[in-house]
Amino acid sequence: MKRLTAAFAAALAFALGPPALADESIVIKFSHVVAPDAPKGKTALVFKELAEKYTNGRVKVEVYPNSSLYKDKEELEALQLGSVQLLAPSISKFSPLGAKEFDVFDLPFLSSDDAHARQMFTSPLMGEFNRKLESKGVSALAYWDNGATVYTCNRPLIWPEDFRGLKLRIQGGKVLDAQVRELGAIPQILPFSEVYQALQTGVVDGEDNVPSNVLTQKFYEVQKHLTVSYHGRVTYALITNKTFWNSLPGDVRAQLDRAVAESTEFFNATAAKDNADALDKIKASGKTELHYLTEAEKKAWITKLMPVHTEMQGRFGKDFIERVYKASGFTPPQS
Ligand code: LMR
Repeated sequence: MKRLTAAFAAALAFALGPPALADESIVIKFSHVVAPDAPKGKTALVFKELAEKYTNGRVKVEVYPNSSLYKDKEELEALQLGSVQLLAPSISKFSPLGAKEFDVFDLPFLSSDDAHARQMFTSPLMGEFNRKLESKGVSALAYWDNGATVYTCNRPLIWPEDFRGLKLRIQGGKVLDAQVRELGAIPQILPFSEVYQALQTGVVDGEDNVPSNVLTQKFYEVQKHLTVSYHGRVTYALITNKTFWNSLPGDVRAQLDRAVAESTEFFNATAAKDNADALDKIKASGKTELHYLTEAEKKAWITKLMPVHTEMQGRFGKDFIERVYKASGFTPPQS
């Protein structure tokens, strides 16, 4: 009898498997640098909700907004080390990963409209870029295009010559650097979390960003002028650690893929509206004067910045850039 009880107990223990495993959730740390109410901040919370729901709690998502866990550069290193499982950084910050090819998407005026940009970031072209990331131990799960950028500064930036001698914050990469130099200004890479203070103290005179970041980070409080130039874009890559993702049980990964797809839909539906609303709110604040470029002014910017495209042929190769033009629908202006 005793033996039967012992055998039954052993069988039961095996059936249940090690007790710890059954209850242990898979934790996904999702770190990002923007405010919780910015498009990416909202979408991270939607992803959390969907991932936990679709996996019936087998996955727990911890969201760390506003650089509360890692700043820009650190978060990429932490992802490669496996200390964080999910990020959605701007692809303008991928040079330190050794994926400088992503800088090509910063070519001035490459795609000023959301539709073309979304088409490009879901096109087969991205296969090349994803393979580059895979070679660095990083898997891209989706691209979230957050729209076109505007310039802010404490003086009006209407014509290219208005930039002369300014110190301007950039996200990173050789293309944004070349763009600012072409305008006769001085580029300075700064982590996102340090931009407000740098603008407030005059370490830099201005910066470019999407309106929703200018609003949610309160840059407009310390910048008297905003030019609606739409000269660039802020696009995120939702990325994970390749080893972590491949180690997930197949059914869990399938549920997470579903959560990624639905979060991406949410992002695409939210970003355009939030950026348009942000411009209205900044204007309504009365703290910042908005300047919409006329056709003539925009033409002057494009003419001034086209040499950056030519310069970058040396860095990326003409063929590569032409493949990107094709995917983005960009046609270089006839000189
Ligand atoms: C920036 O650094 O300005 C942006 O990339 C921040 C963000 O993630 O939107």
